[in-house]
Amino acid sequence: MARPSNFTSIVCSLVAPCRLPVRALVTCIATIILSLPALGGPATLDTCAECHGTDGMGQGNPMVPVIAGMPAEHIEEAIFAYVDGARQCVREPRMCETVAALSEAEVAELADHFAAESRGPSEEAFDKELAAEGELLHRQHCSSCHLPPDHEDVAYALGIPLHGQRAEYLRYAIEAYFAGDREALLDVMANQIQQLQPGDLGALVHYYSSYRSTD
Ligand code: HEC
Ligand code: HEC
Repeated sequence: MARPSNFTSIVCSLVAPCRLPVRALVTCIATIILSLPALGGPATLDTCAECHGTDGMGQGNPMVPVIAGMPAEHIEEAIFAYVDGARQCVREPRMCETVAALSEAEVAELADHFAAESRGPSEEAFDKELAAEGELLHRQHCSSCHLPPDHEDVAYALGIPLHGQRAEYLRYAIEAYFAGDREALLDVMANQIQQLQPGDLGALVHYYSSYRSTD
């Protein structure tokens, strides 16, 4: 057959001038091919990018949470909450449909991808007085589990970072637990949320919006 010998002679003529052993060349090509998916991100990334952006910053959409730089454990936990129905996608059903189609390995791969992206600075507007009120509420009810995203122990915290998250998404998310549209994974959190007065939600959101990253 002409093809393999032609192929070999082409490879040899390419290799000969630079005197690279064929074996080294093959290893080199294999390394490049194997590293391609890592350069382009996980294969399923495109299905998330439309809303979250490939960088996880949510393309400025106020209803899409920032997931860049969020510990992978928290990303996975949130995705499984949508998959098993503990979280309903009330405003954007396509979010739940998209993650329902993923395998566990794909969820892990996407979580690692977004966790490795750097989180841009938060620029949410806030009211100073309400933020001060919200800080007290946070310390009283939420701080044992929810740490800021750049805290050294954030990956080991029980809760997902709320500081610097988009205000509109946060308001919606807290209201959803309050109204029973989302089921809190931990009873302790459900109890703390139930202790809030309706006016407290706004103060908490202003406090989380007042957060500015320290890097
Ligand atoms: C059509 C837009 C859309 C698509 C596509 C989409 N998302 Fe989402 N995502 C959202 C919205 C909106 C929310 C908030 C949903 C809610 O709680 O009601 C969200 C929430 C999340 C959260 C929870 C974040 C938190 O702070 O708890 C994670 C994690 C997430 N998405 C990851 C993904 C991944 C991974 C993919 C791709 C496989 C994806 N999303 C595809 C719009 C989308
Ligand atoms: C005992 C620990 C604990 C306490 C206390 C707690 N939470 Fe949580 N929180 C969690 C965990 C775990 C999750 C992720 C799983 C889930 O959605 O239930 C979470 C998730 C959340 C989310 C969703 C974040 C996102 O990005 O989608 C919001 C909003 C939230 N908590 C608000 C609060 C508020 C407000 C308080 C205080 C009033 C509070 N939590 C107290 C453990 C806690």
